[in-house]
Amino acid sequence: MSTGDSWHPVGLSHSIEAGSSAGTRLLGQELVVWRDTGGTAHVWEDRCPHRGMKLSFGFVRGDHIACLYHGWQYDRAGYCQYIPAHPDLDVPKTFKVPVYLTQEQAGMVWTTLSGNPAPLPVDRDQTVPLRSLYLDCSTQAAITALGMVRLMPFVSRGLADTIVHHLTDTLYAVSTGDDRLLIGIQAISETRTALHLTICGSPRLYEGAGQSHFLDWALQLRRDIEQLRPPVLAVRGAAVEMN
Ligand code: FES
Repeated sequence: MSTGDSWHPVGLSHSIEAGSSAGTRLLGQELVVWRDTGGTAHVWEDRCPHRGMKLSFGFVRGDHIACLYHGWQYDRAGYCQYIPAHPDLDVPKTFKVPVYLTQEQAGMVWTTLSGNPAPLPVDRDQTVPLRSLYLDCSTQAAITALGMVRLMPFVSRGLADTIVHHLTDTLYAVSTGDDRLLIGIQAISETRTALHLTICGSPRLYEGAGQSHFLDWALQLRRDIEQLRPPVLAVRGAAVEMN
């Protein structure tokens, strides 16, 4: 399993709308992924420093997130700036949520739990979100499964082979001819993994009906992985998984 020193995807970008938040986990750690109303994504520890409420249950207000329980408000750097019960208090700087480096690449939100890893080896070409698949298995088992299943071409046009490219420990690409799919691998825990799928290309080509062949392919991938013995993998798909 990759470590916290790597870049890890924690969801598809389109699943976190401006002004919203969602809880997830990475390497067993509870995280809140939220997007301020200016459009910037943030990944923080999902725990309010006051009494431990999950910040993913809170509310995004402009460039702040407010805790559901007592309304403490945190700015984009994680510092508490306002406590409703003490509106005139100059809030101590020690009231701060641990925040993590965050970037968006390839249609996914990425973070790292420590260090400052090398940039992801993906360009900034357009991507179109496909879906996320959630697997009841380790990251290593998921990667092994990707290598074991017989990957069909995305489309029947031509006779191009389907090729899997290892880009990093947490990012793979799958291509058939000119069609290319990216798979970000989220190590939720030692027994749970998410695959986040995005299509490389223009929304003009791949939105709506234009991505139906990719969806069919993803569903076939899920069926193929489910049939692997061993390990027995229970799989379910969803646009985004929230705790
Ligand atoms: S637990 Fe978050 S404000 Fe009290």
